Amino acid sequence: MVQISRRTVLLGGAAASMMREFCRSKAHAEESARPSLPIPPELRANAEGTIALDARTGTMRFLNNRDTATYGINGPYLGPALRLRRGETVTVQVTNNVPENITMHWHGLIIPGAADGGPHQVIAPGKWWQTQLAIDQPAATLWFHPHYYPSTAQEVIRGLAGLLIVDDEEAGRLPLPSRWGVDDIPLIIQDRRFTPDGQFFDRMNAIAVTNGYVGDTALANGARYPEARTARGWIRLRILNGSNARSYKLSVSDDRSLYVIASDGGLLASPVELKQLLIHVGERFELLVDGRDGRAFDIVTLPVTQDLMRLPPFDGPLPLVTIRPDGADGTGRLPSSLAVLPALPQQLPLVSRELVMNMFRDMQGMMPLKQAGLPAMVQSGKTDPAVVARVVNLIVNDPALPQADQLSSSGVNGKPFSIERIDFSAARNQDLHWRISEGSDLMLHPVHIHGCQFRIISRDGKPVEAERAGWKDTAPISAGGVSEILVRFPHAATRDDPYMAHCHILEHEDSGMMTQFTV
Ligand code: C2O
Ligand code: CU
Ligand code: CU
Repeated sequence: MVQISRRTVLLGGAAASMMREFCRSKAHAEESARPSLPIPPELRANAEGTIALDARTGTMRFLNNRDTATYGINGPYLGPALRLRRGETVTVQVTNNVPENITMHWHGLIIPGAADGGPHQVIAPGKWWQTQLAIDQPAATLWFHPHYYPSTAQEVIRGLAGLLIVDDEEAGRLPLPSRWGVDDIPLIIQDRRFTPDGQFFDRMNAIAVTNGYVGDTALANGARYPEARTARGWIRLRILNGSNARSYKLSVSDDRSLYVIASDGGLLASPVELKQLLIHVGERFELLVDGRDGRAFDIVTLPVTQDLMRLPPFDGPLPLVTIRPDGADGTGRLPSSLAVLPALPQQLPLVSRELVMNMFRDMQGMMPLKQAGLPAMVQSGKTDPAVVARVVNLIVNDPALPQADQLSSSGVNGKPFSIERIDFSAARNQDLHWRISEGSDLMLHPVHIHGCQFRIISRDGKPVEAERAGWKDTAPISAGGVSEILVRFPHAATRDDPYMAHCHILEHEDSGMMTQFTV
């Protein structure tokens, strides 16, 4: 029996009705079979050291009575989990069998610009692209997705994304749960919205360009509220927020602790025990949850601060997946220390780069929401169906922006992205101190940089949260905040194959909040 946290009760009317609904749907779910959590198959290099990826079209049954047209990699939706070992060099061949230009980017992998799969390495429909990946970084949960400018958002919505897991000896020596799909569970969290005829909703209007994609359906590995049967014991969850724009505040339904063991680029020094974990788009965290009692629990997302991300069903605790740790006994456990992270230097280098995230058309996206009563509703803490209907109408029916307007809606350091223009150059193999901030918009921007794993030195002048103190490739800023980072680029990125730095809200990225640089 899945328990709902006491916190639910404290969240007031909306949450209470949410809970009634949840119980009803749960009762219903117990009659009809729940979907099981799809586990992406592991894919290692073959005897020749090659991995073949095929981006293709497909269909999926997300809704009871309709097929949805999708994209996927080696399957109809999402992709396999690539499994690479530190020290190996693999050849990846990506074939494009979808009817639009794509690229394939290895998010978090420390490789030269020419292998990075950024917006310059275009694969036309029917063509393929081959590159070498020489793996030289600590064990981590990374991911891959297309990066074609300016339609990354729509390609990810359709299903192009997958996990890329780096293994190494140090991590392999730890007693962590590591049996794939048994006690080591990948969890790609996304939100989607569907059109009346069951297709993915996707429209680049002023609301989307400003606030990002707002789904009304949560998916875990492409399934709606699935359940996973796991070993009885410590369960490792490798969580990727693979959404376009939505942040999740993760928690366990019965309030048991989440032990964060790894961030974007690898293991933390020691586990960080939390009751709630905020994860922004592009970020990954590995968590351990204690399932030794064998009792089922839900991973739940709680409401976040962004107004538009609090529309139902995200206005109360929303269960994403049920974990039933009632299988054979697990063998993994939670070590007290995990990895040795280099200490940050006492004397930091001077700030050599400032990246300011800009929004040029945010008023056009915010004012209609205000007029529809959204901020007032969120303030009141009560979900008002009339307001929700008005806001959903804006999300769905506000006309798409002309492309020229889309591309000039956002920027970095005052300028929208231009694929023709290299914005700066960074020194190779040096510790660099960068400052990431935002203009006057006060919105959330999870800023991601290619070609590196960095450390966040401080956030808003204070030490960064413990769960973000390890290796990172995505640094969130919000509410006028600043993240200072210490970053190093071991590889070259030339004018023809530069690295990107951008907001990982894909609608911001596709509307100009991206900059490119050489190393
Ligand atoms: Cu996850 Cu530049 O991307
Ligand atoms: Cu990336
Ligand atoms: Cu942004």
